[in-house]
Amino acid sequence: MSSENKLVFYVNGREVEENQPDPETTLLQYLRQKLKLSGTKLGCGEGGCGACTVMLSKYDPVSKTVRHFSANACLAPLCAMHGLAVTTVEGIGSVKNGLHPVQERIAKSHGSQCGFCTPGIVMSMYTLLRNNPLPTQTEMESAFEGNLCRCTGYRPILDGFRTFTKEYCQMGEKCCRNTNFIQCNGNPEEGLSSELFDSSKFLPPDSSQDPIFPPALRTDKYDQQSLSFTGERTTWYRPTCLRELLELKHSYPDARLVIGNTEVGVEIKLKNMHYKTLIAPTHIPELNKISKEDDGISFGASVTLSMIEETLLESIHEKQESRNRMFTAVVEMLRWFAGHQIRNVAAVAGNIMTASPISDLNPLFLAAGVTLTVASKDGGTRQIVMDEKFFLGYRKTAVKTDEVLVSVKLPYTQKDEFFYGYKQANRREDDIAIVNAGIQVQFEPNSNVIKGMRLAFGGMAPITVMATTAMKNCVGRKWEDDLVKDMAEWLASDLPLPPGSPGGMTEYRRTLCISFFYKFYLTVLMQLRKRLSGVVQSKVPTSHKSATAVFQRDPTKSTQLYEEVPASQGERDPLGRPITHLSAAKQASGEAIYIDDIPLYENEKYLAFVTSQKAHANILSIDPSEALKMPGVVDFVSHKDVQGHNNWGIFADEEIFAKEKVLCMGQVIGAVVADTQVHAQRAAKAVKVEYEELEPVITIKDAIKKGSFYTNYNNSISNGDVVKGFEMADDIVEGEVSMGGQEHFYLETHASLAVPRSEDGEMELFVSTQNPTETQHVVAEALGVAANKIVCRVKRMGGGFGGKETRNIAFTVPIAVAAAKLGCPVRNMLDRDEDMVSSGTRHPFYGKYKVGFTKDGKITAVECDIYNNAGHSLDLSAAVMDRALFHSDATYKIPNIRVTGRLCKTNIPSNTAFRGFGGPQGMFIAENWIEHIAKTLDIPAKQVREKNMYNEGEKTHFNQPLIQCNVKRCWEECLERSDYCNRRKDIDIFNSENRWKKRGMSIIPTKFGISYTALFLNQAGALVIIYKDGSVLVTHGGTEMGQGLHTKMIQVAARTLEIPETKIHISETSTNTVPNTSATAASASSDLNGMAIKNACEILLERLKPYKNSNPKGTWEDWVNAAYFDRTSLSTTGFYKTPNIGYDFKTNSGNAFNYFSFGVACSEVEIDCLTGDHKVLRTDIVMDVGVSLNPAIDIGQIEGGFTQGYGLMMLEQQKYSPNGFQFTRGPGNYKIPGFGDVPVEFNVSLLKGSVNERAVYSSKAIGEPPLFLASSIFFATKDAISSARVDGGLNDYFQLKSPATPERIRMACQDQFTKLFPEAPTDSYKPWFVEL
Ligand SMILES: Cc1cc2nc3c(=O)[nH]c(=O)nc-3n(C[C@H](O)[C@H](O)[C@H](O)COP(=O)(O)OP(=O)(O)OC[C@H]3O[C@@H](n4cnc5c(N)ncnc54)[C@H](O)[C@@H]3O)c2cc1C
Ligand code: FES
Ligand code: FES
Repeated sequence: MSSENKLVFYVNGREVEENQPDPETTLLQYLRQKLKLSGTKLGCGEGGCGACTVMLSKYDPVSKTVRHFSANACLAPLCAMHGLAVTTVEGIGSVKNGLHPVQERIAKSHGSQCGFCTPGIVMSMYTLLRNNPLPTQTEMESAFEGNLCRCTGYRPILDGFRTFTKEYCQMGEKCCRNTNFIQCNGNPEEGLSSELFDSSKFLPPDSSQDPIFPPALRTDKYDQQSLSFTGERTTWYRPTCLRELLELKHSYPDARLVIGNTEVGVEIKLKNMHYKTLIAPTHIPELNKISKEDDGISFGASVTLSMIEETLLESIHEKQESRNRMFTAVVEMLRWFAGHQIRNVAAVAGNIMTASPISDLNPLFLAAGVTLTVASKDGGTRQIVMDEKFFLGYRKTAVKTDEVLVSVKLPYTQKDEFFYGYKQANRREDDIAIVNAGIQVQFEPNSNVIKGMRLAFGGMAPITVMATTAMKNCVGRKWEDDLVKDMAEWLASDLPLPPGSPGGMTEYRRTLCISFFYKFYLTVLMQLRKRLSGVVQSKVPTSHKSATAVFQRDPTKSTQLYEEVPASQGERDPLGRPITHLSAAKQASGEAIYIDDIPLYENEKYLAFVTSQKAHANILSIDPSEALKMPGVVDFVSHKDVQGHNNWGIFADEEIFAKEKVLCMGQVIGAVVADTQVHAQRAAKAVKVEYEELEPVITIKDAIKKGSFYTNYNNSISNGDVVKGFEMADDIVEGEVSMGGQEHFYLETHASLAVPRSEDGEMELFVSTQNPTETQHVVAEALGVAANKIVCRVKRMGGGFGGKETRNIAFTVPIAVAAAKLGCPVRNMLDRDEDMVSSGTRHPFYGKYKVGFTKDGKITAVECDIYNNAGHSLDLSAAVMDRALFHSDATYKIPNIRVTGRLCKTNIPSNTAFRGFGGPQGMFIAENWIEHIAKTLDIPAKQVREKNMYNEGEKTHFNQPLIQCNVKRCWEECLERSDYCNRRKDIDIFNSENRWKKRGMSIIPTKFGISYTALFLNQAGALVIIYKDGSVLVTHGGTEMGQGLHTKMIQVAARTLEIPETKIHISETSTNTVPNTSATAASASSDLNGMAIKNACEILLERLKPYKNSNPKGTWEDWVNAAYFDRTSLSTTGFYKTPNIGYDFKTNSGNAFNYFSFGVACSEVEIDCLTGDHKVLRTDIVMDVGVSLNPAIDIGQIEGGFTQGYGLMMLEQQKYSPNGFQFTRGPGNYKIPGFGDVPVEFNVSLLKGSVNERAVYSSKAIGEPPLFLASSIFFATKDAISSARVDGGLNDYFQLKSPATPERIRMACQDQFTKLFPEAPTDSYKPWFVEL
């Protein structure tokens, strides 16, 4: 076999040649490490976030055209690039040479906050435009199915890119937006603006500027070459004919075939698999052939899912409907199959042959009985029908080990045949199925008598299964209503799932199978009645028709309203204007530098952690000897190497390296240092740790049962007389509330680089942290040096959200210890799974309440016990609980109250700060008891809320008067803007007309206290330097994590110094410029740092005054120059501490907060009662941000915070086994909101005329307050479920846990199908996952 061993491809127009590339290298590793193209980011390494999106272009010698497609560089094997052109974000534009319109628009429309997701999103959009220069809005929105953003809430990205779509008005200046605003957007009121960017100034799309496809690749030369590459551990073959493929398969029976690598790549990355031989059957003609035959279409095994979709759509458009029913089901299924990046490279063979029990295509293929052609060297070619005998066991099929799949034939359907596919996942877009199904029925000609039915289900067993009893028993039965009940019973017996089965949710999964059949039954019945009039007796009631509708989502629309700056404000004064995030352009072009983008230092080493694999255990031994022998390994580092203290934490209750005991999985035990990341990570897995297991405590309920608490925390707040309050009550209710935790899922995982200096024990740290000062101090203590030897620098973070307030220290310090020991720079960026398993999350909460109230809904007393799951160390859990206690009144005056907090000590990673910091949990409990009161009194919850809502000047339960209490203003405005009353009526009508789809609406207020609750943290410093040329360098204590802090701070400095913001720069945050800073947290950073900057600027202005006075017509530069020559200091520090705060739990006195931010949201939701699916139809938010420093940034924080809250309350479910093993380790099984989750209509307005004397330039903090407003979606969902329950005969109050996952929604709906599967008693089985 002659073969080539030189890899040739192009990157951004430049030829790349690689002799003997390593087959284990991904394109992403090569781009970032070898080509130093760091614009393409690593967010997950498993194809789930899209941060690594690039465009691949391939010449097709047959059609002589070039195909451009997006792909995930993190899964694309480098060796698969032969003959392809790769375009990365750097290849399309740069700040230096001019941005591409896609980059410009995402930046200018405020679609980039932390920027870590931005290059990937840019490349998805760019690829779409390369193929389709004028897409529809729906096409545009679909392009991002495979991209995630944790900051923006997506709306601004969609808004910016909408300007590329067909629907966007192309009239430019003549657009009615400019002439008659009402027609386009609704009329903003006097003084309000709805323009966050000016699209008339956008660069026009210009395809002539796009990089050209390299002419040298317009050849079939590369496709004809057989390839063979051998690396350190693996050989890659790419044969070019079937014979060669079969021979290779014969010679290497254990070889893995790789097409898209979207299964194999994940196995290698996450399941620690290693394959010595990889064979890419991507260039075998038979495996790429698509042939249309009389009875169906045959697809070569290597044909990608995108190509299949394209071909089937062609057939659907060309041929009669009845022939394409199976194809239509496949196309519909592909809509929910991963994102474009995956579908563009993944092949049909990969899906079948992986034989995953949750494959989306296999149920359809079994139901259709598709025919496979397989071949082997010795056995020749044979055909296999996919039926109940095809899957032999978990990931085993009837295809023999020496055989390869050649082609798959999808059959046409017949006139009397119907075919549908179903899938239910936690998130609709880009998620794996919980259960999926393919259902086919064939009737006797022109009748409703069943000739045969095939039902195949995924997610119900270790293999895709067919419901054989049901299939047998239904033959001869008529398609009438009595069939449903029998089918339900047969399906229940065909698809047993004992409680505790892998995957959990057993009752739900069993119910789903029947729901799917029921939908199928109704859909087919409707069609039969149309075709066979008089034959079919059963009818589909009008109220049931909506159950059959395929999920549709209208394109999103939105408005954002904010107060314009007063006409009197100088043009140069940027304050209050929607200035773009100052790094946005660099972020969009991939030029912004994050920790892992910093070029390698000479002699730099990589560190990989060895972490605990047990939740609670004594460490018996640690043996790194095997690891130390592995290639590239330099050293093993452990507690023995810590020269100073091995303990850290606010209460010094954590070890840097676990010494004798581990208290949770993921806890750092040691670390391997090696020459490369790959070597370090491989060796870390080879370190042997022996444990003696101890009984763990995992959940809150476990901790309560076993009395496992942090006993030094006993805070509670009491006000009034609770006993008396209950006596005054007409009624009293008691209940429970559970709220799960939340993974931060910042797109940039924890990352640190420690660079030791050769002198005086100095060290420079580059860290993705919100808390440089604490990082500096803990490193100093661990190294046994003074803090003045350690500098911690933070340029920017790819998101933080509280997750980098303290927890980075657990990873930064070991890196510093290693760097100090070895005397060389050491770096680490956690893999997504490592980050998720070890870095802690938002605290899960559990509350028990008792509430007394009068007949008309006035609250008389509340008693509430609140627990949080703190994890294995205290970290910030006490402060989080304090904030929950402070917010347990939500926005309601409670005359008599006692709230008590307990911190549960458990064996999970230490839970920590997360946007809202306990506030949302406290308010969530309160809003639950509000709903409980409303249901008990049978009045709308809105009425209870209004009855008890705070008035101006009233005191909270912690005795702080509410000054400028704008909650009622926000409430009234939101009711009006959302048209609440009319829509409420419409919803009631909709619900009365629909049995299986229900709508719900809820309006929820919020009040959020601003300040750190620890008094000493309410301080900030700044350093302002004016250089001789008049340029100004500002440094302050806050860190930039995407929230736009630096942009706002420059606006503050510009206003104070009275100069344009273009003269001011912020380079980074560093402990050697501004010391002793508080973490960037508690939403207070603009307030604190803004005041410190203002203070410094005012000092400098004062110094410049004489020069201004003596030359009033002079310029800024003149005055600066004069001051310099007059020997006046042009730099100074500024300082601020928040006055008049400080709360004492003992006396329940003193101001806990500086002031409060308020807001209200109204959301409308539609649920599918049969599956638990939901969509958010509309959200209106009115938010009080005082006088906005920057409305674009504030609106970005509102939408981003709201979307994160939506994830918390509706989607993001952490799953742990009862012994503390975390299942949710990446975007594959932990679903944060995606582009498709943006409310279909999303309106945000900033409250007009709000001023706040207690913060810089009358502004208000905004980072955390909006998050809780997402509970409006949760309660709207609960409202919709209530309607379904009423139809099912239930009118009681029910508990709905957060997050309201499809499982919880479906099972709360309660009907004849759910009743078939009553919940097993909790103590009768071991659950697969537990609720923390
Ligand atoms: C982010 C992400 C999202 C996903 N979403 C979904 C989803 O929604 N639904 C779903 O069903 N799957 C999903 N998957 C799984 C995966 O994408 C699909 O199974 C895909 O079809 C695999 O194709 P591939 O070409 O990438 O397979 P590869 O990884 O290249 O190969 C997979 C397996 O197929 C075998 N194989 C390939 N070709 C042949 C052949 N000719 N003969 C014999 N064996 C062969 C290989 O040996 C290997 O074991 C997802 C994966 C990722 C990473
Ligand atoms: S890094 Fe590739 S998809 Fe997340
Ligand atoms: S801007 Fe998208 S993840 Fe931060």
